[in-house]
Amino acid sequence: MNSERIKVIISKVRAKDTVLDVGCDHGYTSILLKKNKLCKQVYASEISANALEYAKANFKKNHVHIKTFLSDGFKDIPVFFDTAIIAGMGTNTILNILNDVKAPHKIIIASNNNYYLLRKSLNAMGYKIITEEAVWENNHYYVILLCIKEYQRLTEKELLYGISNNDDYYQYQLDMRKKIIPQVPFSKKWQLLKECRDLKRLIERK
Ligand SMILES: C[S@@+](CC[C@H](N)C(=O)[O-])C[C@H]1O[C@@H](n2cnc3c(N)ncnc32)[C@H](O)[C@@H]1O
Repeated sequence: MNSERIKVIISKVRAKDTVLDVGCDHGYTSILLKKNKLCKQVYASEISANALEYAKANFKKNHVHIKTFLSDGFKDIPVFFDTAIIAGMGTNTILNILNDVKAPHKIIIASNNNYYLLRKSLNAMGYKIITEEAVWENNHYYVILLCIKEYQRLTEKELLYGISNNDDYYQYQLDMRKKIIPQVPFSKKWQLLKECRDLKRLIERK
């Protein structure tokens, strides 16, 4: 349960929130919210019956009572919630879950991939990214987004590199691009070189 990523996720929750932890798996996020009384109510859901049983066993072990639901995204959630945590999934799965009338006002998202598509689609779906935090864990950066239903159109650069304002994360993105430049076809090199220049500027801006 000692995950920096989960700590950042739960730091976005407020006392007034009624939270649905979508794809709870091990259930640690829900357990931390409940044990530390960080929100008004927490529910946990899973698409996988096995994962849900795993979460229930962990709830029992940790002496917390959390109502659970077997559900694909929001489809079979019969209770009210105003905040959803959707973490540890790919962008396409997250976007499929959000493409539902039950999608709440506030969402906390931690995708595993394709952040450009995620940011762009969130804006198109009517969500504003209020904060973005990049957390280094298990040799990987996880980007955690706090969003509310409000108009926003990020610029192309903000969509590409994010709005974390974290120079270490920008440097990481720069290093990743530099690494693949020799392997990509000539037609794609110029775009990567342009992105490297943008990232250098972001890092040197202060
Ligand atoms: C890697 S785990 C992430 C667990 C936890 N949320 C975290 O961030 O540490 C992803 C979980 O999402 C669940 N999942 C995938 N698609 C889902 C969907 N459409 N609705 C609900 N849960 C889903 C999977 O069954 C899996 O247990």
